[in-house]
Amino acid sequence: MMNKTIKILTLSLALFALPLAVMAQRTVKVSVHEDAASGQVIPKEIYGHFSEHLGTCIYGGLWVGPDSDIPNINGYRTDVFNALKDLKVPVLRWPGGCFADEYHWRDGIGPAESRPTMINANWGGTVEDNSFGTHEFLNFCEMLGIEPYISGNVGSGTPEEMAQWVQYMTAADGPLAELRAKNGREEPWKVKYLGIGNESWGCGGNMRPEFYSDLYRQFGTYTRNYSGNRLYKVASGASDYDYNWTKVLMENIGNRMHGLSLHYYTVLNWGRKGSATQFTDQDYLATLGKAVEVDTVITRHKAIMDQYDPNKRIDLLLDEWGTWYDEEPGTVRGHLYQQNTMRDAIVAALSFNIFHRHTDRLKMANIAQIANVLQSMVLTRGDKMVLTPTYHVFKLYNVHQDAEFLPTDCDSDLLDAGSGRKVERVSATASRDADGVIHVSLVNTGLEEDVIVSLDFDKNVSGMIEGQILTSSDIRDFNDFDKPDVVRPEVFKDFKIAKGDLEVRLPIKSILSLAIRPAAK
Ligand code: AHR
Repeated sequence: MMNKTIKILTLSLALFALPLAVMAQRTVKVSVHEDAASGQVIPKEIYGHFSEHLGTCIYGGLWVGPDSDIPNINGYRTDVFNALKDLKVPVLRWPGGCFADEYHWRDGIGPAESRPTMINANWGGTVEDNSFGTHEFLNFCEMLGIEPYISGNVGSGTPEEMAQWVQYMTAADGPLAELRAKNGREEPWKVKYLGIGNESWGCGGNMRPEFYSDLYRQFGTYTRNYSGNRLYKVASGASDYDYNWTKVLMENIGNRMHGLSLHYYTVLNWGRKGSATQFTDQDYLATLGKAVEVDTVITRHKAIMDQYDPNKRIDLLLDEWGTWYDEEPGTVRGHLYQQNTMRDAIVAALSFNIFHRHTDRLKMANIAQIANVLQSMVLTRGDKMVLTPTYHVFKLYNVHQDAEFLPTDCDSDLLDAGSGRKVERVSATASRDADGVIHVSLVNTGLEEDVIVSLDFDKNVSGMIEGQILTSSDIRDFNDFDKPDVVRPEVFKDFKIAKGDLEVRLPIKSILSLAIRPAAK
């Protein structure tokens, strides 16, 4: 009996050892240079958001109105409100997008029942009842401690209209302050970010950069600072690879703008964007390849900005980014409602790892969009809400908000993403927070092998280490209303300290967040 047990055990060990001997475990070294940190901070605004009057982002997503049966706080849905509170949203852009250049703010103030309706011509021709307007947006931001980012209408508006909106929101005295008080808000709000138009090369007016630059200068002149409020003005920037747009604006607007925007979506083919949930492994890699190309795009826009502004007084703001797929079958055309899988989570994590490296100039990034549109944080249906895999990435990465950027090196091999694009198998980023805790975020983009990541720090690792991992059995997995927790973070303990370094077993298609308190040598 004893002999038989030993035989079985020996056989099982031999079978287990064989593949290991044939396939050596892949190891990637990540060096975290905490001693080389330069004090560069990862602005919390890199974790910014965008909410447009588009589909059910506002109506049904953030807002159901105070009379709704869906539980709400003054009209804001309670479940979404609480989810966003947990997320520590630093900044929220509103009311568009393309919608902004057809929005007239006076339609969205005063008693809700007397507000005029309009057709949302950009997004499905839906009738907009304006029940969510300036007060509803700014109060929402105030309640959640969010910095509002107002996107003003240049395309179909006038300098006077934009100037008066600023006055209505921020002036303590005068006729527009009185109107605001009559509408229920005595105190002016604080509004920092003001976008002067959106995509002015396209839905925002189909302008040439020279013409837009002049309009920026005109609108910028009359949007003033009132009652101690300091505006930070953002020029409507380029899309993707339009480097000429950036060049002309830098030349013609220069220091009149505080920030210059940029938009970048991971679309490979605008005619056939593909399904959010049904895709091949090759499609997955292709999306990642396109997502990480943002690195080159940011680098090139930055290089142009450097020529005109070597002291980096003008910020680059990626105020729209994310995945964009075909709308879910059966949903309203033009409402851009898409599911969100583990693929989206990986895209978000890789993007943050890149954004962190550009924070010498890149000071804000707003994912599109916060609810029910494109790569959203939450999806809602009736009184139900799910947190998407992307939401969980934002939450795992929150620790980097306003933390000091730590340079990292990673000797990962590259995966072929098609069309000449490559993706790192392992991607890493690190920061140190105000309490001295080092946060390392790692991504294994591969679908075939777990990787041993050897983390090498300038100082030996000891003390408290905590890990949280986001992964799933299939890259196509998503959270749905009847299965809301398919993709969710779990506690991670598969690490050990070896000779002062930290060794981690990083599973395929996973995102890992580690908190480490290194002891001095
Ligand atoms: O986020 C959806 C749309 O994408 C925005 O309205 C527009 O600015 C961009 O083209």
